[in-house]
Amino acid sequence: MSHVVFITGATSGFGRATARRFAAAGWTLIITGRRLERLLALQDELSAQVPVHVVQLDVRDADAVQQAVATLPPGFQRIRALINNAGLALAPQPAQTVALPDWHTMIDTNITGLVNVTHALLPSLLETGQGASIVNIGSVAGAWPYPGGHVYGASKAFVQQFSYNLRCDLIASGVRVTDIAPGIAETEFTLVRTHGNQAASDALYGSTTPLTAEDVAEQIFYVCNLPDHININRLEVVPTRQAWAAYAIDRDA
Ligand SMILES: NC(=O)c1ccc[n+]([C@@H]2O[C@H](COP(=O)([O-])OP(=O)(O)OC[C@H]3O[C@@H](n4cnc5c(N)ncnc54)[C@H](OP(=O)(O)O)[C@@H]3O)[C@@H](O)[C@H]2O)c1
Repeated sequence: MSHVVFITGATSGFGRATARRFAAAGWTLIITGRRLERLLALQDELSAQVPVHVVQLDVRDADAVQQAVATLPPGFQRIRALINNAGLALAPQPAQTVALPDWHTMIDTNITGLVNVTHALLPSLLETGQGASIVNIGSVAGAWPYPGGHVYGASKAFVQQFSYNLRCDLIASGVRVTDIAPGIAETEFTLVRTHGNQAASDALYGSTTPLTAEDVAEQIFYVCNLPDHININRLEVVPTRQAWAAYAIDRDA
């Protein structure tokens, strides 16, 4: 029987590329996200290859997440990999100018949503045991601060520490946990962050060589398909053309 992967945020970017990567290897897919038409288009594209179950789901809604997991059809219930990918950044402006609802949206999605899905799927992952994987999509922003990172970076620091702490509790279960922390990658991420500013998105990605969604999907696939006894705790993956900058120093005018 083929393995089952549950992917959040499969309507775009890393999540959609991950669905395609796992389908190419014969995995059964559960694809979730809020935009149903995109999920149905992806199901249309991939269902000739593998079984695909679609769930329109907002990860912030804990009851809806529980319901989605409780009503998985036969053949989709024994999860081998959970890809906690749904997430977003908003408001790249300085913290002191950001509207509070934008902070709440990032916390509700990147933290609360991720724990909602993890909590709901842990029983199935534990039943799978050896070889099961939880891949949480963090970010370099979770470890390395930058101007305008405020709550986004802090939410991804949560993802890293939650991943590590899960490992402590799951040590004897066979269930692996990985925080994949990508650097700059061209997806719809910046369009979302700038409320649809295509020029800003093009400017950010156009003058360098960012990661692609497929690059990150390949890393996700890799960690889930290692021999059962290997756990990658954290995988920080950035483009060759991205590195750290020096401390900023405030100087007298
Ligand atoms: N691109 C980068 O440079 C980068 C770098 C490091 C980390 N990341 C992280 O990578 C993950 C994927 O981002 P991406 O770059 O692929 O961006 P993207 O193209 O904007 O995709 C984001 C996905 O998250 C889903 N999503 C957002 N809010 C949701 C909610 N409340 N409920 C369910 N799904 C939700 C979206 O689906 P719907 O809108 O249809 O719900 C979409 O499928 C995020 O966690 C992001 O923080 C991105």
